[in-house]
Amino acid sequence: MNTISSNQPQPVLSVEHIAVHFGGLVAIKDMSFVVNKGEVVSLIGPNGAGKTTAFNVITGFLRPTQGEVRYLGNSLNNLKPHEVTSLGLARTFQRTSVFQSVSVFENVMMGLHRRGRSTLMDTLLALPQERKSEAKLRQLAHELLEIVGISKRAKEIAGAMSYGDQRLLGVALALASDPSMLLLDEPVSGMNATETARFMELLNSLHKRGMSILLVEHDVPMVMGVSDRIVVLNYGRIIAEGPPAAIRGNPEVIRAYLGEGASRHAAH
Ligand SMILES: Nc1ncnc2c1ncn2[C@@H]1O[C@H](COP(=O)(O)OP(=O)(O)OP(=O)(O)O)[C@@H](O)[C@H]1O
Ligand SMILES: [Mg+2]
Repeated sequence: MNTISSNQPQPVLSVEHIAVHFGGLVAIKDMSFVVNKGEVVSLIGPNGAGKTTAFNVITGFLRPTQGEVRYLGNSLNNLKPHEVTSLGLARTFQRTSVFQSVSVFENVMMGLHRRGRSTLMDTLLALPQERKSEAKLRQLAHELLEIVGISKRAKEIAGAMSYGDQRLLGVALALASDPSMLLLDEPVSGMNATETARFMELLNSLHKRGMSILLVEHDVPMVMGVSDRIVVLNYGRIIAEGPPAAIRGNPEVIRAYLGEGASRHAAH
């Protein structure tokens, strides 16, 4: 629309009045927020605040008790996870979910085949155009490993890599679906300082390519460093929302989370 100037925020993901009940437990209560095109938004909050539950609702793994999620104008409420992925939303998981016993390269090829819908039979028959597209996929797989910075590990068995590298592979697998938005659930948990710094570089480079990102992360310095906006959850409820500077100084956030997070950091 030419009435909207390009530097005005354009909402791509909108979470509208979501509630999630597990029996008597209210995991999420009336949650609403948006992610604009090309933004990095972080969802933070103490353990059990409802962050992963929010991801599960957005990506079709869980139906909300109430409310609606929309991506690029489409309601996601009745979609299955693979249908959500095909609209351009890809996620990583809080626990690594790479195929442990095959090579790093094969992991990405499997991800790409899922996208390309080419069947195993097509590949085995190796029809001329299939052979060509197979070569294209191999090229793409190498590029994806290059982007996340583990191309030198292509031939290694995925499960034998360091935890940090497995998480990077998880991002390559998510990128294999050619998403316009990435949801990352605690991507740097268990990473050392060097791996975390490398991951922040990757996030920044994806951000520069125009990727919209929703990040769940406990690493407060990282969240402050990469986010355009932060949404703070406590007991399933949004208690604050704003740019990093405003969140850092918010008394309710400090009481509920940052104070606790800071002391937890100091303890390490
Ligand atoms: N499938 C489920 N069945 C019942 N209760 C659940 C289920 N999934 C999550 N919960 C509960 O919902 C609440 C929110 O959990 P959730 O995993 O979303 O928290 P989180 O913010 O991701 O926490 P963490 O930082 O520890 O990953 C918790 O009280 C949790 O025990
Ligand atoms: Mg979680």
